Amino acid sequence: TFTPRVFSGIKPSGGLTLGNYLGAIKRFVGMQGEMETMYCVVDLHAITVWQDPAELSHATREVAAGYLAAGLDPAQSILFNQSRVSQHAELGWIFNCVARVGWMNRMTQFKDKAGSGAEKVSLGLYAYPSLMAADILLYHATHVPVGEDQKQHVELTRDIANKFNHDFKVDFFPETIPVIDGPATRVMNLRDGTKKMSKSGESDMERINMRDNADTIAKKFKKAKTDPEPLPDTLDGLKDRPEARNLVDIYAALSDTTSEAVIGEYAGAGWGRFKPALADLAVDKLAPISDEMTRLMDDPAEIDRILANGAERARAIAAPILARTYDIVGL
Ligand code: ADP
Ligand code: NA
Repeated sequence: TFTPRVFSGIKPSGGLTLGNYLGAIKRFVGMQGEMETMYCVVDLHAITVWQDPAELSHATREVAAGYLAAGLDPAQSILFNQSRVSQHAELGWIFNCVARVGWMNRMTQFKDKAGSGAEKVSLGLYAYPSLMAADILLYHATHVPVGEDQKQHVELTRDIANKFNHDFKVDFFPETIPVIDGPATRVMNLRDGTKKMSKSGESDMERINMRDNADTIAKKFKKAKTDPEPLPDTLDGLKDRPEARNLVDIYAALSDTTSEAVIGEYAGAGWGRFKPALADLAVDKLAPISDEMTRLMDDPAEIDRILANGAERARAIAAPILARTYDIVGL
């Protein structure tokens, strides 16, 4: 009964990484044209941790530039930033009153981010998954392409939708499906194969940034942690070799093939052969996007215009859904 609609977003909390590209943006582009698509720059999520105001507005435009440069087309997808559609915050509040504290306590990403300092982080960081549920359900989105790290939050979104529907005896919010597919739904840190690659990680050497130049990309892959063994003949041989597996998965995702096929091509190859091939491939795919981002960033007014137009279209979908929500709640 719900029209298929895709929603997803990226936080403007630093430069985009290869993880964001393979786990999110490239897959956003793949879904464009298949169904209605909405992609957001989630600036309200970014401020759950301190952001310098000038850098935040720059990063917001840069994520938008990344979307456009990678192939998202504002004529086909609604591209906007979250803070310009006030209904996100309004529905987020209602969901704060639906979600339970115990649910938030189970969020592994919060535990990772807060660490032992949970008393000192912002209340917003704690409530973040409830706002994320609002981002999605404000549009009755049915499909949410995300990386593996966001799976638990999309499941929480389903819990919130179900509890709302149950409490108010309605069938108003859909059960959103997390779309987590392809070989690179969890790109790992290049220096530590047990951690995901993230824009906010400690060292620049642990991640490939979408805007790194060819030399930097080659250097980072060259220094990437691996074991000394050559690549095996089958994917099974990578079972206990997370760093090696990560590089094979990245290669597969960049070349639109499977990790099996990459192993088929590089069986027996040493790192001296595989790493430069991977670096060349990454440069091949990222350089044109990075160049286009640079071009787009030269005209911030044009980016702002695209985002403003997207926000207007987003509001037109959000307003009646929020109005109906208020009505259901008795507000
Ligand atoms: P980050 O963790 O880099 O700050 P965000 O939290 O803004 O990124 O996440 C934006 C999208 O990018 C999400 O769908 C997330 O799952 C995806 N993503 C982020 N890092 C990775 C990664 N290392 N591998 C795969 N997907 C990722
Ligand atoms: Na994330």
